[in-house]
Amino acid sequence: MSILSYPERGQWGKSSWRGNCSGHVYKELFERLQPKVFVDPMVGSGTSVEVAKEMNIEAHGLDLHSGFNAISDSILLAVGKPADLCLSHPPYGGMIVYSGNVWGQANPNDLSRCESDEDFHEKMQLVLLNQREATAGRGYYGTIIGDWRRSGVYTSYQAEMIARMPREELAAVLIKAQHNCTSDRKQYGSMKLPFILHEYILLWQKKATPVLVLLNKLAHQQYGRLTSTWKNLVKSVLMQLGGKGDLGAIYEHVQREAPQKLSENPNWKAKVRQTLNQNADLFKPVDRGVWAIA
Ligand SMILES: C[S@@+](CC[C@H](N)C(=O)[O-])C[C@H]1O[C@@H](n2cnc3c(N)ncnc32)[C@H](O)[C@@H]1O
Repeated sequence: MSILSYPERGQWGKSSWRGNCSGHVYKELFERLQPKVFVDPMVGSGTSVEVAKEMNIEAHGLDLHSGFNAISDSILLAVGKPADLCLSHPPYGGMIVYSGNVWGQANPNDLSRCESDEDFHEKMQLVLLNQREATAGRGYYGTIIGDWRRSGVYTSYQAEMIARMPREELAAVLIKAQHNCTSDRKQYGSMKLPFILHEYILLWQKKATPVLVLLNKLAHQQYGRLTSTWKNLVKSVLMQLGGKGDLGAIYEHVQREAPQKLSENPNWKAKVRQTLNQNADLFKPVDRGVWAIA
């Protein structure tokens, strides 16, 4: 089953630790994946490690609260051996702030204190690469994460993570029902959009790829996404123009459609021309400076 639902959290970890995860979830994952060595780089109140130890799995728990920083310290070096499963349960952005609140003093490395969603996405990619490095070949690395809607903004942390990691290593996306937030639900009663009652468990399986090749693949993956975005942007503009338009009209529409993208790319007009010129399957010149959908 790709849907997990455990209303009880069990006797593991601390029920008072905000944002903790039911021990039954870890139990089920351990039963399926059968790791011999397990690592949780954000162990919180210790739920995962307690479950693992009870199942005679060698388990290592790290956390910022005890001096380990997953965005600058190597998990592999901290543990001393690769894991068969390296699973994190990070903060869901700033939904619950940990340092200076759930524990100790405010810490700038705390993932729940990121300055923006973009900052969080970037740091979580680094954490996942750190987890991957700490995983043995054919082993699994992954994360438990929810989405967050606040003040009209919906952030899907899981979607960003999937997009930023090697797609050929993605092994499973499980849905986990969330049971511990009923008191927060009342204020959402009259809202059009549903209250979020699920989280994700994302699992990747490490393939034997050297880091340089991996980075190459990731860069290629991101470049492919950007290129296809330009192609679709230009094609959708031509569609709006009735299938045909001169460069002036195309530029005007592109500028209207994608101001943010344009401000990031000072040579955007050249990029539009390059997109038109290099995709003969999509676009054809019909007159001087006039293009149509092929
Ligand atoms: C959602 S909680 C984990 C809860 C845990 N699964 C449990 O059941 O108790 C997230 C944890 O991430 C830790 N954390 C935040 N930033 C971190 C960082 N940079 N490195 C390591 N741990 C971090 C927090 O201290 C917190 O304990």
